Amino acid sequence: MSDLYLNDEEQAMLQGAQGPGVQRAMEIVATLGRIYGAPDLAPITHAQIAGVSYKNIGDAGVAFLSQWADDGGRVRVSTMLNPMGMEEARWQEMGIAEAFAKPQLKAISAFSKLGVQQTLSCVPYLLPESGLRMGDHVAWAESSAVAFGNSILALRTNREGGPSALAAAIVGRTARYGYHLDEGRRANWIIEIACPVRSIADFGALGYLIGKQVGNGCLWFSDLGAWLPPLPADVTSGGAAGDRLKTLGAALAGYGAVALYHIAGYTPEAAALGESLIQAGARRLRIESLAPAYAVMDANPEVSAIDLVTIGCPHASLSEIQTVAEAVRGQHLATRLWVTTGRLIRQRAEAAGWVQDIEGAGGLVVADTCAVVAPIKQLGIKSMATNAGKMACYAPAHSGVTMRFGELEQCIHAALSGQWLEAP
Ligand code: F3S
Repeated sequence: MSDLYLNDEEQAMLQGAQGPGVQRAMEIVATLGRIYGAPDLAPITHAQIAGVSYKNIGDAGVAFLSQWADDGGRVRVSTMLNPMGMEEARWQEMGIAEAFAKPQLKAISAFSKLGVQQTLSCVPYLLPESGLRMGDHVAWAESSAVAFGNSILALRTNREGGPSALAAAIVGRTARYGYHLDEGRRANWIIEIACPVRSIADFGALGYLIGKQVGNGCLWFSDLGAWLPPLPADVTSGGAAGDRLKTLGAALAGYGAVALYHIAGYTPEAAALGESLIQAGARRLRIESLAPAYAVMDANPEVSAIDLVTIGCPHASLSEIQTVAEAVRGQHLATRLWVTTGRLIRQRAEAAGWVQDIEGAGGLVVADTCAVVAPIKQLGIKSMATNAGKMACYAPAHSGVTMRFGELEQCIHAALSGQWLEAP
């Protein structure tokens, strides 16, 4: 354990001057700082908390949060929530049992008392309400958001745990180590791409192949920019580049533990600092083909009947919702389709008429949750299809479903026909 500098206010928090809720939060933040050798604490501007679904936290988690709220813990920076296990407004319509819904609602009411905004989304970077500024220190827990925020927005965050992100939000600081430091942001892997990477599914497959090999490495992509449209100045609507990058980060983080990647000439720090971001002795990896990833991620080739098609992992952007809406407008779906997103994004999609297009065809634009954190098994769903790399792995593991993974066009076809169509 190292010496950790705490200023007078931080010492006072630690000694309980601001009540037991703040004291507990400072104990967590300071302990992490000592364990990881942080010199001091960094003020944060934003926090994002994972571990929200009752499916994951159970009764013990609900009791823990309620106690923290009763002890007077209150966040002091803008703080948002990851998805929970159901949509708050339509859980009955989704077929969620009351035995699940009641404790889930109790959990988010405790978060509300703690001052946390009920965004219930894994894409805080797509919400203009986040007010993020390049270079800010933040405390985010959702691994896919950490990868996007660090890499595309040059935010500085470690991958916080659920309690540590909440603790950081309550004290307004986090321990300054890892990705908060310049040294922690230098690449120790150089990645070359020698095959086409053309779609959201391809970017997920790429993330799988790399994540499996690099663990928690920090990546330098020397030529991936050639497969990406330009990054828009405002990424909050998603767009062709944003949608590919959010799925890449989710797969890198989900199959490995990547929290930061640089793309030569493309991501902000790489564009500003160039190859000085590469550590001496960085290892090299060359990706020749995505086929090995598809062979693993599209794990059940014998399955053709699909119970649920799910789009939006990480949560769907406006551009993804628009694409699905245009594909199903005026048609009748043969099986369940969930486009999962945050409630604030859903509101904007509703204003554009896209929610009505999808729901008019028989699908759902589901807010607040996703097919990994919802109790999918209890809904009688046995087979799923997706174009999202992270979902392809997490849903079978978390919900025991069989999975087809492929292009968005195959997913739309499955929603319309109930059958998976093999890629040509
Ligand atoms: Fe988000 Fe659920 Fe995927 S939380 S990243 S949509 S598994």
